[in-house]
Amino acid sequence: SLDMDYPLPLLAAESGSFAYNTMKDRVPRILTKCIDTITQKPFEVSDQNVEEGRLDCQSVIGQLSQLRSEIMTDKSLTLLDDEIDDCEVWNARFEQNRSVHQSHPTWFSSPWLYVECFMYRKIQSVLSKSNHMKKFDPFLDQKNLALLQSLPAMRNLAAFLDQVLKIDLGDAKILGLRLQDFLQVSLWGNRCDLSLSGGEESSQTTDPHKNLTTLSEFLLVDCSKKVFDYLYIINQDKKTDKVVDIILDNSGFELFTDLILAEFLLASKLATKIRFHPKRFPWFVSDVTPQDFLDTIDILGKDSSQVLGDFALRWKERLQDETFTLITDENLTSFWTLPDPFYLMKNVSPSLLQLLETSKLLIFKGDLNYRKLVSDLKWLHETSFVKALRGFTSTPLCSLRTLKAEVVVGLPTGVAESIAKCDADWMVTGKYAVIQSNI
Ligand code: F6P
Ligand code: MG
Repeated sequence: SLDMDYPLPLLAAESGSFAYNTMKDRVPRILTKCIDTITQKPFEVSDQNVEEGRLDCQSVIGQLSQLRSEIMTDKSLTLLDDEIDDCEVWNARFEQNRSVHQSHPTWFSSPWLYVECFMYRKIQSVLSKSNHMKKFDPFLDQKNLALLQSLPAMRNLAAFLDQVLKIDLGDAKILGLRLQDFLQVSLWGNRCDLSLSGGEESSQTTDPHKNLTTLSEFLLVDCSKKVFDYLYIINQDKKTDKVVDIILDNSGFELFTDLILAEFLLASKLATKIRFHPKRFPWFVSDVTPQDFLDTIDILGKDSSQVLGDFALRWKERLQDETFTLITDENLTSFWTLPDPFYLMKNVSPSLLQLLETSKLLIFKGDLNYRKLVSDLKWLHETSFVKALRGFTSTPLCSLRTLKAEVVVGLPTGVAESIAKCDADWMVTGKYAVIQSNI
């Protein structure tokens, strides 16, 4: 039921809101791009039978075009009718949304988090019902291009980590500062898939450390010191396993920054094992799928630079010896592609929660994960982060998030107002960021 103690969810129905613009312009554009990609692929789809491949593509394109037009004209949402194992859960959400919010939920009148997730799930539904495109990733070309474009920035960052690891990290103060650096590197990796230099061309000579200093002005809350103090204290007990989970967001440069952070945690012995949580299928255009994760390491391994080659090799070894684990079990991945805020995990995916509770630290990457941490509600900006988690606090966690949606909590009084005065779009451009924690 609608809980009167909580603020309302973000809604696309509010004309002029970022949610509205997303559903009105961005989402149809994403679908158009998806359709264009598939239009160019008919011969790749089926190597056995070209004609069959062509018909398959045509049918998928037809359904995606229909989806786009239903969104643009704010038609009613419909139930799913596919064989994917979360189909029933989605249909249950449909009924809940109908009973809570309105009798005929439409694309713009339903909570934005729910409909935006539903759009990506609908794409998957269409693909799953095709003959040859069940595993097709309509965003793969975009993701691969972004990856190749950021190779120079990656070489640069890899060299930075390489340098850091050559220094003796025995001194707690230095260790702490470096952890803060790599948390921030991973944070800014979330900034619109751009490199740390903020979109300018990243040359080999750019100093990531200098970039972090420049960017720190836009970091509105920074709990990274607290995260270090916590990890350092549990590190005093050398015997226990120290598992850290990274709930991934985007592929490309961001994934690379996550791997760099993971490598630093292991090499510095702040953690003994890292578990990575990808999305089970293509999601929000650039999110990491298991295939993206493995392909990325392969591509790094083939790079002309020694430093990327070395890290790629090490990461392959880590996947072998399981100091890196990529979570792919459907029981443990399906929750991430539901529209549910994380406080519901205990009911919806107890097995995932159980796994996460064996972790010393959960690192949530990016904007969508943040929206799910705080339930995508219109909280006052001064609301405490822990309150907004609504009980999702059984394990220490931190969120590394650049702001790309109109929700943020945990800001000191007056900060939101003063930024808004000179920067009207401050919540949606990825320019500002937070590192927040329940520790
Ligand atoms: O463009 C807006 C948006 O689709 C948001 O709805 C979503 O939260 C964000 O982009 C995805 O960003 P991220 O990859 O950081 O989760
Ligand atoms: Mg994403």
